[in-house]
Amino acid sequence: LENGLARTPPMGFNNWNTTHCTATFNEAMVKGVADTFVSAGLRDAGYRYVNIDDCWAEKTRDAAGNLVPQHTRFPHGIKAVADYVHAKGLKFGLYTSAGTKTCNGADGFPGGLDHEQQDANLFASWGVDYLKYDNCNNQGVDAQVRYKRMRDALQATGRPIAYSICEWGRSDPKVWTWGEPVGNLWRTTGDISDTWSSMIGKAHANDDLARYAGPGHWNDPDMLEVGNGGMTDTEYRTHFSLWAVMAAPLLIGSDIRTASAATLAILTNTDVIAVDQDVLGAQATVVSSSAGLVVYSKPLANGDRAVALLNETGASATVSTTAAAVGLGGASSYTLKDLWSKASRGTTGTISATVPSHGTVLYRVSKGQLTPPPAGTSQLSALSW
Ligand code: DGJ
Repeated sequence: LENGLARTPPMGFNNWNTTHCTATFNEAMVKGVADTFVSAGLRDAGYRYVNIDDCWAEKTRDAAGNLVPQHTRFPHGIKAVADYVHAKGLKFGLYTSAGTKTCNGADGFPGGLDHEQQDANLFASWGVDYLKYDNCNNQGVDAQVRYKRMRDALQATGRPIAYSICEWGRSDPKVWTWGEPVGNLWRTTGDISDTWSSMIGKAHANDDLARYAGPGHWNDPDMLEVGNGGMTDTEYRTHFSLWAVMAAPLLIGSDIRTASAATLAILTNTDVIAVDQDVLGAQATVVSSSAGLVVYSKPLANGDRAVALLNETGASATVSTTAAAVGLGGASSYTLKDLWSKASRGTTGTISATVPSHGTVLYRVSKGQLTPPPAGTSQLSALSW
């Protein structure tokens, strides 16, 4: 959607994967997440949006037909939370559904269908910067009709509001074929869960969709599970690496107030984030895939390639490709920077690594040799440069 927003994939937080609808989802949590964005360096690493998901509203609208923040979770309302988030130099996102009710619970909470302009106006008055618009209880109304209505309603508020289509890729025609002029991102899958098989399935659902992604309009394989405890740190590094090469939104889905050092190290790896946020806005394509060994290549704005060597098998394996195969032929030498270990080395064309089970080696590949170290500096500092 050409609304000037999401020129690179949105980065931020959403509470759903860690709280779902439980009572831990409340004002104190959201404020604490905003605090942690600043104190743990997440804001400095590029994370901006503090987004809240389903279950924020009372079950009935007020006498004027307006949505009402749930009193127990948000005793001071939603605007107070948005103000708090804004005061930290961050942006605030909200959720509703393109249906009569949202998704959660037997009867759900009120949705936006047939209330689009009233709800958009309310959200704008609260200072909302991002809207995730879900797909439950849609009464069989055509998806494009429903999602365009809210797009137009948001635009009519005059407030810049990033627009996330949460349609799960199930309509016909598929959302990625019509999403570009409608939303800034669109879900391509059902809900992720905190397991290896779920995560890797979401990644592969995106494999063939690279041509639909670009500045302002992104494929969304769902929010991150990094730090939620159901995968190993090796698997979480794979998760983060794949989301980065796919130019996927990086919406943290764990409770970062209590994140481990390992989780924070994954989420704040600025070299990997730079791959995701590269201004060219290209999504990786699959270069090769054989017996669980997969190579992805993502073109970057300066001519480099981000190359992910993924090992889905149950044992350590060598994953190999070449500079020519990833689209960087024609040079006599190349530099590979490993974006997790930070080590750099040269190659004449082979790109290869021993990759642990469920691991990913992520290289930034450049044409040309390592820059010789300036006189007086050590080889080590030249390598980490
Ligand atoms: C379905 C969406 O896909 C999830 O991300 C989450 O928003 C839930 N609905 C909330 O009910």
